Order: sequence, then C-alpha cells, then structure tokens
Amino acid sequence: MTVTTKISAVSALSGEALAVLVPEDKTQFAAATAPLKKIFHAPLENLLASGDFTGKKDSVCVVYGTKKMQRLILIGVGKASEVTHERLRRAAASAAKTAQKLKAKSVHIQFPATSLSTEDAAQALTEGANLSLYKFDKYFTYKNEKDRPSKLKEVVLVSSNKADEKDLKKGARNGQIISEGVCFTRDLANAPANEIYPETLAAQAAESGKKYGFNVTVLEKKKIEELGMGGLIGVNAGSASARPPRFIIMEWNGGAEGDKPFVIVGKGITFDSGGISLKPGAGMADMKMDMHGAATVIGTLQTVARLKLPVNVVGLVPTTENMPSGSATRPGDVLRHMNGVTSEVDNTDAEGRLVLADALSYADKYYKPQAVVDLATLTGACVIALGQHATGMMGNNDELKAKLKVAGDRTYERVCELPLYEEYEDQIKSDIADVKNVGGRSAGAITAGLFLKRFVGDWPWVHLDIAGTGMAEREMHYAPKGGTGVGVRMLTDVLRNWKS
Ligand code: BES
Ligand code: ZN
Ligand code: ZN
Repeated sequence: MTVTTKISAVSALSGEALAVLVPEDKTQFAAATAPLKKIFHAPLENLLASGDFTGKKDSVCVVYGTKKMQRLILIGVGKASEVTHERLRRAAASAAKTAQKLKAKSVHIQFPATSLSTEDAAQALTEGANLSLYKFDKYFTYKNEKDRPSKLKEVVLVSSNKADEKDLKKGARNGQIISEGVCFTRDLANAPANEIYPETLAAQAAESGKKYGFNVTVLEKKKIEELGMGGLIGVNAGSASARPPRFIIMEWNGGAEGDKPFVIVGKGITFDSGGISLKPGAGMADMKMDMHGAATVIGTLQTVARLKLPVNVVGLVPTTENMPSGSATRPGDVLRHMNGVTSEVDNTDAEGRLVLADALSYADKYYKPQAVVDLATLTGACVIALGQHATGMMGNNDELKAKLKVAGDRTYERVCELPLYEEYEDQIKSDIADVKNVGGRSAGAITAGLFLKRFVGDWPWVHLDIAGTGMAEREMHYAPKGGTGVGVRMLTDVLRNWKS
C-alpha cells in the first residue's frame, strides 16, 4: 500500500471513499461535519440528527454518498486537545481497515486540523494506515483468484491548504519508508524457521544492504571460531552440521568519517527449542520469532539508509538456532566468550545472552561506539513483569535511557526501566566460571541484563527486552497478531533526533 498526498478542496474529490477525522467537542464536531453535508446530503444529515455518531474516540460510521464520492467514513478521535500522534495512527488505521473491508482500492483521508506539526501528523497517519493493513499472507493459496481477499492499494492525504503541501509530502514519504521498514521486520519475524535460518537471515540482510546502500559483511563459522565467539558457537553446537551460525555486520556511514558509530545489536535465534533444557511443546512454535531483535536491527538499518540519516550506524547480529542433539551444549558446560570471560551454562534455554555476549564484545573490540543498544526477546520474566505494552529497558547511562524513553513515548513503542542494582549480581555467580547464565526465577529479566553488562565496555549502553512487545498475542490497533516490528520506529526516531 502506498500513501500519497493531494492539495484539493474536499468537495472537488471523486473516488470510492473519503475518511474524515472528527473530534467530539461541539464546535470542532460541527466544523468537521458541516462542510460534508454539501457532499453527502440527507444520509449524513440523518446520521447526525440521530445522534449515533458523536466523535467518540475509536468510533467509526460509514455513510453512503453519490457516484462521485461513494462513501464517507467518519472516524471519531475524541477530545481535540487529546489528539496525539498515536491517536492519529489509530484513526488512520481505522480508516484504512474500514475501506479495505468495504473492498475499496483507494481511500482519501482529509488531513485533520490538530496542534501537531503538519509533517509529524502526516507521518503518523501514513504509519497507522500502512501498518494496520500488514498481513503475513505469503503462504496462503487460492483455488480461484477471486477468492483472494481484496486489498487497499492507496491512501491519499488531502489538504485544501497549498501551504501544507511540502510538509505533507515529507511526512508521508518518511512515514512510508518507516512503515516499510517495520513491515520488513514483521515479515522476517513471522517467517517460519524453515524459511529464515542463519544463512537466509544473512542473505536477507545482504539483499537489503545491496538495494538500499548499506554495507553488509557476513562472517561464517570458521571466522566466528577464530574470533573466539564461544557463546555463539556453543549455542549452535546442537545444530552445527545442519545449520551453521552466522555473524552479520551492517554499516551505514551517513555521518562524518571520524564520527563514532551508534551500534545496535539484535538477538538472532532463528528457532529456540530450549536446547537440552528443552521447552514444553505448547507455544514452542512462537520461538521462530526469537530473532525479532535481529529483524529489528536489519529493518532499522534499512530504514536509516533509506532516510539517509546523517549518522554512522552499525548493526550486529549473532544468529543461530538453539537445538538439542548429541552434539549440543549441555547444562553445566562452560563456554569462553570473545572477550575471554567464561560462562557456566546452567540452562541451555538461556541462550540469547550467550550469543549477545559475543556481539557486545565484538562491538567493544572493533568499534569505539558512542552508544550501544541491544534488542532481544530475552526473557519470559519480562513478559510476566510488563506484558505486551512496554519493553523492558536496562542500561548504564541516564542520558541514553532518557533519549530512548522520549522516542518510545513519541512512537508509542514505550519502554519501562528495570533496575540493574548490583545486589542482584549474586544470583549469577558461578562456582566454576566467571558468570552463570541463569539467576533463578526472581528478577529474571534483570539478571539477564546484568549478565549482558559483564560484556559491555566503557560506553553508554541500553538493553531492551522485547520478549513481550515483539510478539503480539492478539490483534492491536495497527498490528495483527504475531511479530510487531517493535523497535524500528523507536530507534529510527532516536537516530533522527540524535544530535539535538
Ligand atoms: N527466547 C526465550 C525468551 C522468551 C520467552 C521470549 C517467551 C518470548 C516469549 C529465552 O531464550 C528463554 O528461553 N529464556 C528463559 C530463561 C530462563 C531459562 C532463565 C526464560 O525466560 O524462561
Ligand atoms: Zn531460550
Ligand atoms: Zn531465546
């Protein structure tokens, strides 16, 4: 789906549907609906007289018009003073979903008057419309082409104000690129593990790099061994011959040559069976999404490159399956990571931190990062603590955490901080190695964060546990069930505003 823009009076439009966002406050309600009476006449007047549509947030009403403009989709947005970016994303999502359900191919959305900047509002509407229509449907087959569900092809943002044109276009273009980055990430996350495994995940990153102009280097097993990445090799041991690991390095050099890079690291477990500490069968299929962090990093690099942001960004992805077999790592084994630190594998299901440890060590050795953010579907404990609506944030630098918090609120990919108090460190002490990979049931998200901290250098670092926010259990306003693409919008926002 594509979002375009148009400068036109609403009365001059013709098409399948016109969507209008309507606030519930009396004067704004009247201002939004009165001019429409000239286009939709009695059907609209009757609806308004009935009092059935009041502009209440998240309400939707369809009025049938004329041959020239077939339908009016009224979207309630609630109190005008409470219209935020998120409210606009949801309103555009309602408009696009309603139009698609009615089998329209195109819908006009009247650009609403809000207190937000034109560019920001256009971006939010574009994101909401695009993201709401995402569906992972490549594996469905149809006997007859006519059975294939009808899809909306185009959303046109319409303003009658010529002065809006430039900003409207800019916001729509940025929103389009950003939502395509999110949908690409969702596709990677939702793909089954027989499609996306280390080799094919790396191929996807390489293809995106080639298309959009960022560098991609893929390290294979021999090189990974030479580098001493014992965590990545250890987790891969169960499927070593069938599916060897990869270490993906992506670089976007949009900044000045000497500028230290912003490094993002993503957990790339393409299937997490738990290994010898095998997970129960129920729900195990969801663990094809255990590479969501990696997918977010690849999707963010793509987005940042397409937006040509003036920053240097490096993406690092350690990727492997976590499988049981005769060659698998056992509980009790000790692994040596790239920076020399040893870890006792008390539970092979706590594998994410083992591969991230090597990636963080790699960032420290080969880059002098100005900041590092890692994203990982790391712990069930984080899902228990925060559920689906907040990402767990831990880190060593207040300024970086504050930046992520602001970006998280703005994009509605919200983060909530969990404390890395040193007292928790006792839980991951090992009797035989430098650190143990599990710390018991209590504070499981925090002890995972503290494990990672052992591999962090002298740079600002934040760990984002996206175990809850990466995988939607049910449909949300503009995300279907499954991989959400979380992190792409938030990190892109951080990077767009990095210097300010
Ligand atoms: N990939 C899982 C975490 C996860 C759980 C992600 C649920 C999404 C939804 C991770 O590798 C894992 O298995 N963690 C264990 C750690 C435990 C053994 C310390 C967990 O959370 O149970
Ligand atoms: Zn696991
Ligand atoms: Zn995992």
